[in-house]
Amino acid sequence: MEIKVEALTLKYGDNVAVRDLDLDIGEGESVVLLGQSGCGKTSTMRCIAGLETPTTGRITVGDNVLFDASTGVNRPSHKRNIGMVFQSYAIWPHMTVFENVAFPLQMQRSSKADTRKRVLETLELVGLEEFADRGASMLSGGQMQRVALARSVVMQPSIMLLDEPLSNLDARLRHRLRGDLRELQQRLGLTSVYVTHDQEEALALADRIAMMQHGRIVQIGTPDEIYGRPRSASIADFLGVGNILDVEAVDSTHVRLAGADFTLRVPAYEKATQLRAAIRGEDVLTADDRPDGNIITGHVLTREFLGASAIYRVEIAPGVQIEVYGSKHRPLRGGEGQEVRLSIDVDAIQVLPLDVDDLPPADVPTTAHAEVAA
Ligand SMILES: Nc1ncnc2c1ncn2[C@@H]1O[C@H](COP(=O)(O)OP(=O)(O)O)[C@@H](O)[C@H]1O
Ligand SMILES: [Mg+2]
Repeated sequence: MEIKVEALTLKYGDNVAVRDLDLDIGEGESVVLLGQSGCGKTSTMRCIAGLETPTTGRITVGDNVLFDASTGVNRPSHKRNIGMVFQSYAIWPHMTVFENVAFPLQMQRSSKADTRKRVLETLELVGLEEFADRGASMLSGGQMQRVALARSVVMQPSIMLLDEPLSNLDARLRHRLRGDLRELQQRLGLTSVYVTHDQEEALALADRIAMMQHGRIVQIGTPDEIYGRPRSASIADFLGVGNILDVEAVDSTHVRLAGADFTLRVPAYEKATQLRAAIRGEDVLTADDRPDGNIITGHVLTREFLGASAIYRVEIAPGVQIEVYGSKHRPLRGGEGQEVRLSIDVDAIQVLPLDVDDLPPADVPTTAHAEVAA
């Protein structure tokens, strides 16, 4: 079912965790809330789940109003028909896998036969059919998360909320379960909100990514859009763009590197008070490979060998370093201390404001403060 969040604000005392947030999620869509720790992802989820009472706003799922501050509607959490999976393995260790998944159905007084059928179907869905009779404490972390997932899915929830469900797993398992989750989400057509601080996980799992900073959504779009066209340098930085250089405007197609005496030719950009040039390490080539780009001379500071590739740190002006990727087919000829000539294609540079312009200051005084001051 569709989810509609309107003007949602949640304050914990003076601390504004969610700030006037709007979010529309389509039927069967998977939206990932992505952002640094503390930006308000879990708080937003908990409001949808009914585990927090928002300060203001409205939350609707399908035709059902779950919360509306203006009319006083606030449906209790257990009556929202929402499936939830969290980071911690919220399963009962003294029960078997079967009993764990059957539990919510028994609470609903489903018949024995119906319960058995639905539990076994769901266990098959998450790849645990052979583990039905095993004690839940005898499972690996990945299997425990599958049980938690099955227990949510068995209730045929109208929507699913997943809050960093993979972050306690080791890298390999995380990878595998990530793929399985995406498949399950698509197969069941589940409308879901997935929270993570891991950009790779977000890119892999999302139909759309909602980037959050300071309790707000600062950009929303498909993984391609967010990765290809971040709206600000701080978003680009979070998405792993290796080079965020402090620059000053010269004219509409040139910027000057702060603290250096050379300019870069760049695509047309919008003026802002603080500008940064965002450049991916893989887009910096050698001058031999691309003689028509911005040519920069620098000194190799370090070379980090990664097997298939290597990352070089090159000083291009006093105190200004850039990260350059070299691969087997495109090595950066030059060891530590040597001079190299680099080339950056005009189109590989994005000149961006440091932050999205409409971002309010971090600590807006709250009513509580105003009252104290009065
Ligand atoms: N129970 C709480 N009481 C007070 N402040 C909280 C509580 N939970 C979260 N916060 C604060 O709200 C902000 C958002 O937190 P949270 O939603 O958990 O962020 P995220 O999930 O993105 O890491 C943070 O500043 C955090 O310290
Ligand atoms: Mg969180």
